[in-house]
Amino acid sequence: MSFDLILFGGTGDLTWRKLMPALFQAWRHNKLPGGGRILAVARDERSDEQYRAFIRERFFEVEAAKQPKQEEFARFSELLHYRRMDLSKPADYEGLKGWVDARAAETVVLFLATSPHLFPQICQQLGSVGLNGPHVRVVLEKPLGHDLQSAQEINRAVASAFKEQQALRIDHYLGKPAVQNLSALRFGNALFEPLWRRESISNIQITLAESIGVGTRGDFYDRTGALRDMIQNHALQLLTMIAMEPPPSNDADAIRDEKLKVLKSLKPFNAETVVRDVVRGQYRAGMVDGRKVAGYLEEEKVPAHSHCETFVALRTEVQNWRWAGVPFYLRTGKRLAAREAQIVVNFRPVPHPIFPGAARANKLVIKLQPEDGLELHLLAAKGGLGPGGSGTEQLSPVSLDLDFDKAFPTDRIGAYERLLLDALAGRLNLFVRSDEQEQAWKWVEPILKHWAQDTEGPRPYVAGSWGPPAASALVARDGHAWAEEQ
Ligand code: BG6
Repeated sequence: MSFDLILFGGTGDLTWRKLMPALFQAWRHNKLPGGGRILAVARDERSDEQYRAFIRERFFEVEAAKQPKQEEFARFSELLHYRRMDLSKPADYEGLKGWVDARAAETVVLFLATSPHLFPQICQQLGSVGLNGPHVRVVLEKPLGHDLQSAQEINRAVASAFKEQQALRIDHYLGKPAVQNLSALRFGNALFEPLWRRESISNIQITLAESIGVGTRGDFYDRTGALRDMIQNHALQLLTMIAMEPPPSNDADAIRDEKLKVLKSLKPFNAETVVRDVVRGQYRAGMVDGRKVAGYLEEEKVPAHSHCETFVALRTEVQNWRWAGVPFYLRTGKRLAAREAQIVVNFRPVPHPIFPGAARANKLVIKLQPEDGLELHLLAAKGGLGPGGSGTEQLSPVSLDLDFDKAFPTDRIGAYERLLLDALAGRLNLFVRSDEQEQAWKWVEPILKHWAQDTEGPRPYVAGSWGPPAASALVARDGHAWAEEQ
């Protein structure tokens, strides 16, 4: 299949940090279809050779195992081209169209790795020069808007040029192997389905914790905050995968229809429940990985009195027959104790304990990172006689551990590699549909509105901790505890 992949924002962070390394890996693994061209588009004047040298330089910042050898890069870089474009000039889109038409590739993928405020303009211009035929797909990188209204505006502009099935909204969490395994766990195995409901599950916790701070992205982050950056998209997408009904097929729309139903079933927030069920925090100076780190307000490009949240913990419910009354706790933050993304499914304890000691419940831990795996926590007898040979042994927690990196050492590919290959092949399962995305904005909107007029601001937490104490209290109120406190 011949393809043209066009990267708008071709010299930006996302392109050199994530997309180019992913494309290189795909090429190295022989997964990139032959007969392709990758065209980077940006504002300044450069030749193809200068662009290739720019990317080569940036590759040194990528982790060692993923760096190309000189000879490899030379071959990979033959795919790379560069074109100067002023995104506000219709003539420059005509020029781009000419470049594409001269080759007439079977597939054209336009990846918008620019600031989202440019999306409407770019899509309209692409539409008006006719770079939107049925063989063209447009990939939109988050953040897709900063609230419901701006998201709708972007979606309308995209829809004025592209059909829904041509518009691929990226949530890179959906490209992570662990997330695909979540589907496999639920819909490829019958074992858990009878238990996957309110009768057996006491609560579900989704934690997306990062130990890094905001780094040099202070200005972007301060306009965004953790709710928009991680909860509205990544955390909610994971929640939908956990809570959705089995889809009738593995088709993109069959899956997305079910995910949308979950989003529509989320308990809506109001002024009272935002205060009760949502905790926002902001990190202060502390220690992370044995190193002293600055507080958020001391970070580069962060305004001195910012109320931007770097941490959110919230409680919600999925209001349907399967999940009524089961709390779903979502939590994310920067500068937390560890980089750890996981979903913990806490089962109910036995109804009538017959063994000595407090009854502990089973739990299933779906680990997304740093490791990618599953842990099923059970209780077992060691087989001894217990204290003083009394024959009253307490049960001990043990776990069945599955490490997918070890189980499948050769087949795993990174999130962006997967999503780029899916975009080229037109596989839509792992992309977010506009109605899902808008519904997610609708759900977070009361929180955003409340915070906008709340003068109290976020609660402080020490860098290297698990967030403000109020986050623990939120869960403790229901008689539960976060995984690390259990
Ligand atoms: C991005 C956020 O979407 O996800 C970043 O904008 C965050 O702030 C990143 O650091 C986390 O992704 P991952 O894959 O490293 O967990």
